[in-house]
Formats: sequence, C-alpha cells, structure tokens
Amino acid sequence: IYEDAKTGSKWIAQEIISLIKKRQQENKTVVLGLATGSSPLKVYEELIRAHKEDGLSFENVITFNLDEYYPMLPESVHSYVRFMKENLFDHIDIKEENTHLPDGTLSMEEVPEFCRNYELQIRQAGGIDIQLLGIGRTGHIGFNEPGSGIRSRTRMVTLDQLTRRDAAPSFGGINNVPRRAITMGVGSIMEARKILLMAWGNGKAPIIREAVEGPITESVPTTFLQEHPNVDVILDEAAAEKLT
Ligand code: F6R
Repeated sequence: IYEDAKTGSKWIAQEIISLIKKRQQENKTVVLGLATGSSPLKVYEELIRAHKEDGLSFENVITFNLDEYYPMLPESVHSYVRFMKENLFDHIDIKEENTHLPDGTLSMEEVPEFCRNYELQIRQAGGIDIQLLGIGRTGHIGFNEPGSGIRSRTRMVTLDQLTRRDAAPSFGGINNVPRRAITMGVGSIMEARKILLMAWGNGKAPIIREAVEGPITESVPTTFLQEHPNVDVILDEAAAEKLT
C-alpha cells in the first residue's frame, strides 16, 4: 500500500525495468502482458522516463495486451491500439512487430482462430513474465466479466453494463460504447509467471476488498488470482481503505 498512485506506479515500473535489464545482460527477451485504461498510465510515464532519461532500451521486450473493444478500428480514438501507441509505444524503442493486441477489425467468423493464434504466439514467445492488471468495478481482469471461469481463454465476450457505464464518459454516452470485446481469459492470465494488480482511488476500494479478502468465485473473477503463486497487489491508501 503506497501513499499515492505515483509512488505505487514507480515501484511497479521499477519491477519491470529490473527484469528488462536482467534479461538484457543474459541476451534474452522479456514478455510483458499489458493493460490499458487509467490505472497503468503512471507506470507507462515512468517507463518512458527511464527510456528518455536513463537510456533504458526496450529492444528485447515483447508485449501482449489484454484486450480490445469489438468492433474497433485501430485508428479510432477509443481503440486500445491507439492508446498503447500514444501512451507508451511511440515514446520508446520497442519494435512494432514485438507488440501484440487483439484485433477489433475481424469478422465474427475470424475471431476464434485469431484468439487461438494469440495464445499460441504468447506460448511461442516463452509465456508472459510479468502481467500488469487493473481491476474493473465489476471485478473484471482484462474484460473477464462476472461469470468468466478460471479456465477461460482468449475469446470474444459481452461487456457488463457497469463496465459500459464506466466507459461512457470517454465515448460520449453509453450507446457509443461497444457491447463486446476480445480479451485474454482468466486461464491465460493465470499462466503469467508474475502478476502485478494495481488499483488507485476509493472508487476501487469495495471491489479490492472483495478481490483480496472475499471468497473465490466466478462472480468476482479477480478472486481467482488468490490461487496464483506470485501476485503483488499494489494500491494507494484510498483503494486500500476497505481492507480489514
Ligand atoms: C484494460 C483492462 C481493464 C481495466 C479495468 C480498470 O486493458 O483490461 O480490466 O484494467 O477496467 O480500468 P481503469 O484502469 O481505467 O480503472
């Protein structure tokens, strides 16, 4: 529990930076699982700062993002492709071919094969070393809404109404928020070697309490992380205020 999001985000960035440097010394790659939304913004700012000011290179980094709205064009202001470019990729020296996001432009028929291939690409890259996660007020990780099973894989999902309501302001109204998304599954996320779950602000305090202290249940998919052997939950004081 950190005083504020900035301090917590610096700690998270430091974990990522240390692993990147260690792997560079070994001439190896690092595979990062990345999230979008407001929670990781300060982590990305710190990674950009480390690149610009300390000369940290991302040449050995491979990334897989958790999710993308469906349907979604990559150039749309709402797309997670654009979000990642604007908030991280365009400011560091990562190779474009090393960055992966679910594709919101596919036809419905093409989605299942894309999802199988996404999982295959993660495995071929060696599996995810560090998975960064935010948490939705529904208890989702990625877009695994209530009802998502512990063995769920990358797939098309229907977004919860609360998730769509939370996204409404940035879309200019709930009717503009897509009803669906493509997301890595809970099972896919659980295979990461290390998971960093972050939450900032008192709006997340009730769901953080359920996620960390509540019973493991499909109705709060984040609770499945309680079964993962290597998870850190990084909070500011506001998000931690309901923990007992
Ligand atoms: C985003 C994602 C979501 C968000 C969650 C929290 O890629 O997978 O699970 O992490 O909805 O969103 P913010 O950080 O905007 O509160």
